[in-house]
Amino acid sequence: MDARDGERTGVAVEEEARGEAAEVTGFAGIIGRHPRMQAIFEVIRRVAPTGVTVLITGESGTGKELVAQAIHSQSRRHAQRLVPVHCGAIPEELLESEMFGHERGAFTGAVTSRVGRFKLADGGTIFLDEVGDMSTKLQVKLLRVLENGQFEPVGGVSTQQVDVRVVAATNRNLEEAVGDRQFREDLYYRLRVVPIEVPPLRARREDVPLLVDWFLNQMHTAKGLPRFEISPAAMEVLTAYQWPGNVRELKNLLEQLVVLGPTDGVIRPENLPPKLHGRMAGDGATSGWTTPPWDFDGRGIDFYREMESIEDRIIARALDISRGNKKEAARLLQLNRTTLLEKLKRKRESRTALGLGEGGERLGPMPIAVEPQGTPIGDFLGLAGGQALRA
Ligand SMILES: Nc1ncnc2c1ncn2[C@@H]1O[C@H](COP(=O)(O)OP(=O)(O)O)[C@@H](O)[C@H]1O
Ligand SMILES: [Mg+2]
Repeated sequence: MDARDGERTGVAVEEEARGEAAEVTGFAGIIGRHPRMQAIFEVIRRVAPTGVTVLITGESGTGKELVAQAIHSQSRRHAQRLVPVHCGAIPEELLESEMFGHERGAFTGAVTSRVGRFKLADGGTIFLDEVGDMSTKLQVKLLRVLENGQFEPVGGVSTQQVDVRVVAATNRNLEEAVGDRQFREDLYYRLRVVPIEVPPLRARREDVPLLVDWFLNQMHTAKGLPRFEISPAAMEVLTAYQWPGNVRELKNLLEQLVVLGPTDGVIRPENLPPKLHGRMAGDGATSGWTTPPWDFDGRGIDFYREMESIEDRIIARALDISRGNKKEAARLLQLNRTTLLEKLKRKRESRTALGLGEGGERLGPMPIAVEPQGTPIGDFLGLAGGQALRA
């Protein structure tokens, strides 16, 4: 840390002065009203001016790079450079020279010397993206710069000294990588002085409409694309979707819709790709299955219970279509009739053991599928005194 780090910056104060409107919808270009995002904004505000190392974790597309940019722009170093290094995409030798530079003749093809990214970032911030993919050899070198700002360029003998603030990001579980000895424990703790975990978009669904409005507006004002609106029904579909690619996936989809989408400028459910409608593979368009809310949300889910619950829904649906005829349901499920009966029996027993059943209770953590003329799952699994089990 040096004189550049310390007091709160003018930028941060300005942000606060702008008051609540800025607070609710976002911070430094990061949109989010969800409490977890608000908490992140607060951490950025507090940590940015200090110059300490920050480790940002989160799935791909959640906005880790935006967070890194915010930390830099709110810091005393904001007039200096923010230099990104993408550690994942590059082979080890190249990455070393990319980060630390090399001397002329250091290796075949090194006809001139080269200044590395750490030197370029001197006085500013370096953003080490996908730091979890770095080789253990480079991890040692990185640890040293973090400790005392020193390194040698590849093929060089003279030690260089820099003053660089390090912000790192990864979508890997570094704790696990430490356990598997793929990531150095000392480096892990040195990086995560302040950890920031960016939640997946599906764990903060209430931010989806905010982001949609933000991106639609931005595409118009910043990129000069036509102004688009979105129907409430389409917004609902977007909010319910799982977003495995997170905000990046949402942003790309909206861009695609604005460029190639409906000519009347209104995005409706039928303009959205089929996968967004949450239908299960091979399921008819009319069955009304919705995607279950696997939010994980940092805590994880009970995998076996979820699988059980999905099985319940599939069986319920088959029994629904077969109007309770188990032979027909077994045919639809491509199961032996006895296999289906066994499953039903086992399910009923495990539910009785758990004190569930006797008709109607929700089974498992998922809401029961919305089915047009459906039978609630409890009707056959609960179950009206076991009636449904007698074939
Ligand atoms: N909360 C957010 N508000 C606005 N834009 C966002 C947000 N999160 C991500 N984005 C946008 O989504 C894209 C992916 O974000 P990025 O920071 O590169 O994600 P990551 O580094 O986690 O993969 C970028 O275009 C970014 O501007
Ligand atoms: Mg990224």
